[in-house]
This record gives sequence, structure tokens and C-alpha cells, in this order.
Amino acid sequence: MFARIDHIGVAVDDLDAAIALHEQTYAMTLAHRETVTEQGVEAVLFDVGENHVELLRPLAGDTPVGRFLAARGPGLHHVAYQVADIDATLAALKASGMRLIDETPRTGIRNSRVAFVHPKSSGGVLTEIVQPAEGH
Ligand code: CO
Repeated sequence: MFARIDHIGVAVDDLDAAIALHEQTYAMTLAHRETVTEQGVEAVLFDVGENHVELLRPLAGDTPVGRFLAARGPGLHHVAYQVADIDATLAALKASGMRLIDETPRTGIRNSRVAFVHPKSSGGVLTEIVQPAEGH
């Protein structure tokens, strides 16, 4: 069902420090930076081989990542699996009884199509399904 891990999402409260860690200490390449207003985050993507680390800084406290930071502090936020056909994947997950946060995909960074699976049905791990845009 899943082709590979697309990225792990990390919630950060100090984006500059987190960028310095990944860029300078870990020598990762900053691949993309985008503000996703409807999700209330600024996202910064680093390359790790064919996979990525996604840093997430909330645009405000009253956002999903803002509430996560307030409750749990900075750290691992979600894992994202890459798929070729997100519509078929969501249908299969729903048929398996999984609880979907997004019944239909929405637009993620770099024009990907994404949907989240509720951690209550995925072993406590907030799980993102990603179908990359053509060329990514
Ligand atoms: Co993500």
C-alpha cells in the first residue's frame, strides 16, 4: 500500500534553530520552504536521500501544530507515507475501519495531495498519506 516513507514531520518552536541543526550540523539540503495558511504552518523540507524531514512552525497558537506544541513541546509530530493513488489508499483504509481526519485529500506542500489518519486508529501515530505532484 505504501511505497516508502515520504517524510517525518517535526513540530518546532524555534524554526531558525531547527534549520541550523538540520542544515549545518546534519548537513542536510534545504529543499523547499512554504507557508500553508489553511493548515496554519510554515513548513521547511530537507532532503535525506529520497526522503525528507519536514519542520513545522505554527503560524499561531490556535492551530493544530500550535496546540500540539503547547501540549507536548517540540518533537516528532507525524509520519508521512508516500502512495501512487491517494484516492484508492483512502478508500482501502476506510474499508479497513480506519478513522480518517481527511475523508478527501487536500493540497499539501509542493502541490502534493495529502490526507491524515487519526492517531487513535493508527497506534498513536498521526499518519499522513502523500501523493506527490508530478515531478516530485
Ligand atoms: Co507532513
